[in-house]
Amino acid sequence: MTYMAQRVSNFGTTIFFEMTDLANRHQAVNLGQGFPNFPGPDFLKQAAIEAIQDDVNQYAPGSGRPRLREAIAHKMARFYGLPVDPDSEVTVTHGATEAIFATILGLVNPGDEVIIFEPYYDSYVPAVQIAGGVPRFYTLRPPNWAIDRKELTALFSDKTKLILINTPHNPTGKVYSEDELSLIADLCQTHNVIAVTDEVYEHIIFDGAKHVCMATLPGMSTRTVTISSAGKTFSMTGWKVGWTIASPELTQALFRVHQFMVYCGAAPLQEGVATALQAPHTYYTDLAAMYESNRDFLANALLKAGLTPIMPKGTYFIMADIGQLGFPDDVTFCRHLTAEVGVAAIPPSAFYHNPADGATLARFAFCKTRETLEEAARRLVKLKHSAASRKLTMSN
Ligand SMILES: Cc1ncc(COP(=O)(O)O)c(C=O)c1O
Repeated sequence: MTYMAQRVSNFGTTIFFEMTDLANRHQAVNLGQGFPNFPGPDFLKQAAIEAIQDDVNQYAPGSGRPRLREAIAHKMARFYGLPVDPDSEVTVTHGATEAIFATILGLVNPGDEVIIFEPYYDSYVPAVQIAGGVPRFYTLRPPNWAIDRKELTALFSDKTKLILINTPHNPTGKVYSEDELSLIADLCQTHNVIAVTDEVYEHIIFDGAKHVCMATLPGMSTRTVTISSAGKTFSMTGWKVGWTIASPELTQALFRVHQFMVYCGAAPLQEGVATALQAPHTYYTDLAAMYESNRDFLANALLKAGLTPIMPKGTYFIMADIGQLGFPDDVTFCRHLTAEVGVAAIPPSAFYHNPADGATLARFAFCKTRETLEEAARRLVKLKHSAASRKLTMSN
């Protein structure tokens, strides 16, 4: 007899636990999990400290502290020219993760279909399944991760309720182009589908690429739930301050879940983020420039190690093709890399409904100090040699 409910019994534990545990046991440089190992900005910490000292320590309003909702609305106008009403269209959530769950549980009925691009962020599928929805997958393929119009169109039906889009995209680093988003927008309008866009990496973008907010496309502001959070932009993933922006009708649907799941987020941290969002433009451009330089450094190290990096246009992840090293799959490769080379990465097969689709790839995070990346680069040099001797042992 098991106490576990059926709805969660097939979820298993995430690959992050296994890889972090393995990395700790082998004292590996951990380029697996996507959290910065450097401090976030002082102006953000200071604003939260002041809020605590000013006794902003009781429950926030369910939809979030008014200053933060106003700062979010202001940011959307400032960066994307999107008018947002802070009172009826913004909900502050416990990170983007809660926003994703509240949105899906608030909008998806049992049997509704939800289109998900894979590789996907790992909470999407469980959220859809808990709601009783049916995931329908569109597989993005390396090295371009391009979208085929016919293939995507074929996924839409009269059962489709939602499409989930993550741009910039974890783990591929793809930044959806305006043309791709316009295609999705047309399909949403033809089939009366809601777009849910996860934009947590909106400010980590390279090579002059442009982040396009789906809600700004014609006809989409009333059928898009825009999700973002402060964790990546301000290098404070532990704060878990996220938000949704949606029409009053869509906001009410997700708010019904939010009110009973968490009621509200942490009040003083919301004040901190309200201040942080007003940072000058240079804060955002410096952040992107720092990550672009980290990306180039790590890509070069991966290349020297015999891997083929697939250059991301955004996020702080890089995928590499491991096909030429002769490992049977990505999980075996990542275990070998962690234990024998001392660098931990994530096997992306965990982000596909058919794990074989990710079997020739590995994901590396570059949200680390330059010293950490340099140490990883020194160790990665061993990879060619260790992979070759492994091949030899296997064939003997
Ligand atoms: C694509 C994507 N969405 C959402 C999240 C979660 O964001 P938060 O920490 O704000 O819940 C992450 C975190 O890694 C992510 O990569």
